[in-house]
Amino acid sequence: FLDVKGLKKATGCFTYDPGLMETATCQSGITFLDGDNGVCCYRGYPVDQLAQHSDFVTTAYLLLHGDLPTPEQDIAWRRELQKYMVVNTRLVEFYRSFPDGAHPMAQMNSVVGAMSAFFPVSLDPNDKEQHITAATRLIAKMNMIAALIYRTDKNKSVIYPRQDLTYAENFMYMTFGDCTLPPGVVNHDMETFKLVAKAIDAFLILHADHEQNASTSTVRIAGSSQANPYACVAAGVASLWGPAHGGANEAVIQMLEKIGRPENVPQFVQDVKNKKDGVRLMGFGHRVYKNFDPRAKYFGELVIDVLDKLGVEDPHLDVARALQEAALNDPYFVERKLYPNVDFWTGIMLRGIGIPTNMFTVMFALARTVGWISQWKEMVEQPGLKITRPRQIYIGQPIRSM
Ligand code: ACO
Repeated sequence: FLDVKGLKKATGCFTYDPGLMETATCQSGITFLDGDNGVCCYRGYPVDQLAQHSDFVTTAYLLLHGDLPTPEQDIAWRRELQKYMVVNTRLVEFYRSFPDGAHPMAQMNSVVGAMSAFFPVSLDPNDKEQHITAATRLIAKMNMIAALIYRTDKNKSVIYPRQDLTYAENFMYMTFGDCTLPPGVVNHDMETFKLVAKAIDAFLILHADHEQNASTSTVRIAGSSQANPYACVAAGVASLWGPAHGGANEAVIQMLEKIGRPENVPQFVQDVKNKKDGVRLMGFGHRVYKNFDPRAKYFGELVIDVLDKLGVEDPHLDVARALQEAALNDPYFVERKLYPNVDFWTGIMLRGIGIPTNMFTVMFALARTVGWISQWKEMVEQPGLKITRPRQIYIGQPIRSM
């Protein structure tokens, strides 16, 4: 029974768990996290091993199908993706209707949602072929969808994908043009192009899935009503946009810019500890990782290596290092188990290779699309799909007369 302001109502028993911190909402065989020991595995494989030895397209197959592909399956999977990678001309036109300066995530959210108008899917839980087609089409097109946001923003013509390029190379090609590199990168040779593409590929792998985070849970909740999968993924894009989730990598750069120089780090750290204006150390802390984020560990080392090879001199790198050093040695952060999360380093990497700050979360969404649609597929194919319908503790007016 609940007794709120005189309202007594038989409710059965349910938990009050804001933020769902103590509640498992599903059974899943996709990603395993052990927050205390800093472990993250896709289908049993540690993510850092996948980032080192696999590529994004193969990792996408693993997440979606449950196992690494055989060489034949890998070839067939790449062919399928190639078949779907071009975006419909009418969808391309859709970009032109956005106002100048529309946030890239607002554009991505709308375009992915609009895919549900182009590809109506009436859900049949037994039609696994239908689910794979929806997932393949989405993963394939998302690359061009993301690149088009940049092209439209810069008033540049559309570039269509090439069959001879990898997924990450195609992203760069469709975004920045014919084997050129983002502004800011000094060497425009093929070796540099490949190095940057490899870094983007690692970024995509490390962000491809992460268990029941806010955006993935959003996709599952939307999907639980048997809604169109593209509409469900658009809901995930919306959820990812916030600064407490995917927007954090953008917020990290804004924070580093605000700090400006390594010598300003101690004062900034003090402001965070005093909770001055609610300021937080962006890119630090995680709901699950209370030791270290294995993605951050791997990516932090990669960032320094890649930016070094590219000859990028970013003053924010020194600020980031000083901030990490200060926080890791400060009891305030240690006691609260606040360590750098993957977003602390991804912003620096993306900025270093010339991706505009407002495109960072779009890059995250590009990667996470694989996780979203894999989780959606897993959910709709599990027997006894139930609509997600949480309860509440009512704190409003008691029943009253007009
Ligand atoms: N900087 C300073 N203090 C922090 C931070 C931070 N980044 N994160 C948590 N804390 C403090 C809180 O103030 C609180 O301290 P208190 O007990 O003195 O009040 C304590 O740590 C616990 O904080 P919660 O908000 O309860 O922790 P929660 O697990 O709910 O939050 C979250 C996790 C949202 C990621 C949080 O750490 C945060 O805001 N981090 C910054 C944003 C960020 O980097 N987000 C990316 C997440 S990873 C991803 O999406 C890929």
